[in-house]
Amino acid sequence: MNAESQSNKSLQVIILAAGKGTRMYSNLPKVLHKLAGKSLVEHVIKSAEELEAESISLVYGHGGEQVKDLLIEKQLFWCEQKEQLGTGHAVQQAVKTISDAADVLILYGDVPLLSSGTLNKLREAKQDSSLALLTARLTNPHGYGRIVRDNKSKIEKIVEEKDASETEKVINEINSGVMIIDGDKLKLWLTKIGNNNAQGEYYLTDLIELAVLEGETVNSYIVDDNKQIEGINNKIQLAQLEREYQKRQAYTLMEKGVTLRDPARFDLRGSIETGQDVTIDINVIIEGHCKIGSNVTIGANTVLKNMTVGDNVEILENCILEKSIINNGCNIGPFARLRPETQLDENAKVGNFVEIKKAHIARGSKVNHLSYIGDTEMGENVNIGAGTITCNYDGAYKHLTKIGDNAFIGSNTALVAPIEIGEGATVGAGSTLSRNAEAEKLTFTRSGQKTLDGWKRPSK
Ligand code: UD1
Ligand code: CA
Repeated sequence: MNAESQSNKSLQVIILAAGKGTRMYSNLPKVLHKLAGKSLVEHVIKSAEELEAESISLVYGHGGEQVKDLLIEKQLFWCEQKEQLGTGHAVQQAVKTISDAADVLILYGDVPLLSSGTLNKLREAKQDSSLALLTARLTNPHGYGRIVRDNKSKIEKIVEEKDASETEKVINEINSGVMIIDGDKLKLWLTKIGNNNAQGEYYLTDLIELAVLEGETVNSYIVDDNKQIEGINNKIQLAQLEREYQKRQAYTLMEKGVTLRDPARFDLRGSIETGQDVTIDINVIIEGHCKIGSNVTIGANTVLKNMTVGDNVEILENCILEKSIINNGCNIGPFARLRPETQLDENAKVGNFVEIKKAHIARGSKVNHLSYIGDTEMGENVNIGAGTITCNYDGAYKHLTKIGDNAFIGSNTALVAPIEIGEGATVGAGSTLSRNAEAEKLTFTRSGQKTLDGWKRPSK
């Protein structure tokens, strides 16, 4: 059978995720711990989805409700394994979802870097045999099941570390745990495995010896990228694979022309689209999906979450920007915060210690220093003086502030919403306005300035 006819056979995936993850020391089930902003099991599901699997069955146990809550939108068959009696027993819980004619791919929920490309290679390696194993050659094979081959290099069986003889322990080809197997054969052989071994578990790996005894050839694909088969059992491995994943993402971005000042200090927890000449300084975190235009610089220690950024934008250091749109030519920061539903039009400027929430700032307007602008509709070329606050909340409701084109708001002004500042209006510094300000006029509230003659500062 060639690769093409192979792909005609439907593919069903079983993901094993019932293990407790004792060594994570966490209330969170192991597979829900996050790598690059996404749970471990979601990484595995993504690879399965890329293979266009007909079905995905998830074997769950510990913390099942939490796992279900997170994956509620996924199309999955949920198979509970009440007691963790071994990998063979785990797969047994999912066989009811498997059809005889399918190719069944068995994956682990705690192996997040395995790519669909590698899995396709394994599919091809299966050819016309009943099963194929994904294996690896490791310099330190300790802990893994070893692949035992005969003198013609044909696979004979897998021996678990705890059951291995001294000569078997020397074998450096290991079982990744991932296999692809005919549905009917899987069902048949699973009924034949026992638990007479060092761990008293039902080993999925015992299927290999059974297959060989029935005269089957067991094929294999040896991965060339060992990180892909690494599983996570503790926080150290979680951090190591996180770094590895981040490094791979960073290199992919650099290959596309993005300048990363230090790829080891860049975190992408989601996805990013970039134009040309994007420069990202150290300790930048990108979350969700961000779209960045051309000629954009992002300063150190800045977080962007679900942002859309146009061309020729300069974002300085230490900004926190979320679910907002920054159009071409804007300048942001340092220390600026954009909260969701903010839109900055062309050439707007948002400076230091400015918080903007749910506001539209039209082109050329400037909010340069120490301001809060919330629930605001601002026209073009407005100048907002330092320390201006929109008082948008009365304790119960949020109210709108409207500021017309070319308005000039003096420093330290409180605009008590709902309120409208007319086009070209000027508001004197230090005002607290609770009524509208007329267009083209100067409006201010201010108590007069006094000087006391003969006053003396108290002294000791
Ligand atoms: C297993 C393999 C071993 C392989 C190694 C790769 C067996 C018997 N051994 O060993 O050959 O080298 O993986 O990492 O298969 N799980 C369940 N229910 C259970 C037991 C396990 O869902 O009852 C799940 C775990 O959550 C985990 C996966 O299966 O995702 C593997 O289990 P684990 O105990 O880590 O397998 P190993 O003993 O390390
Ligand atoms: Ca085990």
